[in-house]
Amino acid sequence: MNRSRRVHVALTPADFPGLALDGRAALVVDVLRATTTVVAACAAGCARIVPVADRDAALAAAARYPSGEALLAGERGGRTLTGFHLGNSPLEYVPERVAGRTVIFTTTNGTEAMLHAGRAAAAAAAALVNVNAAARWALEQERDLTVLCAGERGALSLEDAVCAGILVERMLAEAGALELTDAALAALRLGEHYAERLDRLGLESAWGRNLARQGRAVDLDACLRLATSALVPIFEAGIIVPGPGAPPAAVARAAQREGGG
Ligand code: MLT
Repeated sequence: MNRSRRVHVALTPADFPGLALDGRAALVVDVLRATTTVVAACAAGCARIVPVADRDAALAAAARYPSGEALLAGERGGRTLTGFHLGNSPLEYVPERVAGRTVIFTTTNGTEAMLHAGRAAAAAAAALVNVNAAARWALEQERDLTVLCAGERGALSLEDAVCAGILVERMLAEAGALELTDAALAALRLGEHYAERLDRLGLESAWGRNLARQGRAVDLDACLRLATSALVPIFEAGIIVPGPGAPPAAVARAAQREGGG
């Protein structure tokens, strides 16, 4: 690609329906906590993550997998859905629980953003924990990029905008020049402000304070970390699979399952 790449950040879910994603790469961001959890699930060796809209869609999706293979996972209002195997804490996603399994995932905002991102020509999940690897993945696509911030019930979430800005900053550092929309530039400036004080996000973002009130300070600690993972979960036909940086066992197990082995 000779011209410099265009980068747009959809700062709120209200932007999603109108996004032209044809031919573009997309990164979906829900720092607290859905995309951080997706990275954790892939690191723990899950075979795939199937994002779905709600409980009914989750039950229908699980029925398409052999009995006992799929795990129902997700939350509403931050709390695990009744009868589900897993909630939305990245700390729950350990090899003993998810290795080799299919995770059917529905969350309040994150999975809706994932469903939109899946429409792009190439898509991946980004969070603060994998921000460097996700920025590198985005540059490797050689396409214009849209970052979709999951937000909170239609509104902007500070931590997602900050993560989008740090992604843009990492890409600029590598690529030298990018064509930024005003929204991407606004995110960049927010990212510059918070990159050295991520712990403030737990106190200053509305959802961070909410999770703290729910006794989930350990999740804030797990989510508000910068570039601790080299893993980039990628979308294949709307389903998320462990991508670059995944532990070899997870990649091998996923390939084996694709081949029916
Ligand atoms: C969401 O999708 O809104 C979330 O990831 C909320 C959460 O469980 O922290």
